[in-house]
Amino acid sequence: MPKLMLALDVLDRDEALRIVEEVKDYVDAIKVGYPLVLSSGLEIVKDIKKLCNKEVICDFKVADIPATNEKIAKVTLKYADGIIVHGFVGEDSVKAVQDVAKKLNKKVIMVTEMSHPGAVQFLQPIADKLAEMAKKLKVDAIVAPSTRPERLKEIKNTAKLPVITPGVGAQGGKVEDIINILDDNDYVIVGRAIYQSKNPKEEAKKYKEMLTK
Ligand code: C5P
Repeated sequence: MPKLMLALDVLDRDEALRIVEEVKDYVDAIKVGYPLVLSSGLEIVKDIKKLCNKEVICDFKVADIPATNEKIAKVTLKYADGIIVHGFVGEDSVKAVQDVAKKLNKKVIMVTEMSHPGAVQFLQPIADKLAEMAKKLKVDAIVAPSTRPERLKEIKNTAKLPVITPGVGAQGGKVEDIINILDDNDYVIVGRAIYQSKNPKEEAKKYKEMLTK
């Protein structure tokens, strides 16, 4: 049974904490990114963890030179349980983050192919190579799209690593199209379909039940 990760891309601290309180019984992990951290500060990660005691991943899609990546990882992983990085910048940049994460026993998750339509333009042509690189570097997980189930399957087969997969809900991806590709170590990411709904708690419960079947 894959796990449920909430993408909490709201712009207000109080709203974020209210949603976490509502959905905490149904989500296994929470992903925060620039929308929430730039509007509320990185300490929101600490506040979310205190409230729900769930894994919190920072989706910063880090893509810089090794020295800068290292600094970003040090600051982020002070609070977060994991950090998402880009692989297209090269092995050395990813390794710099892994070195920090290993010392702190935290996760590094690497993007292969993104879930939006524009990803076919530049990322998709190199996504299989990125999956091979992720396998070689033994990152903790990769990001691959649930909006393209056949690509999700190919990338997962290549990397042979846990997958976190965005695109279900608002981007058109469907749980039923990907559930058979995933296993217990994988995460399905759902954002707007939960936090923008009239009843986030009910929606989170619905997705959790879909993943349990
Ligand atoms: O609201 P929605 O369910 O589309 O949220 C998906 C989340 O996953 C967003 O936080 C988005 O930034 C992120 N993401 C994605 N595609 C990727 C990597 C991350 O949609 N390849």
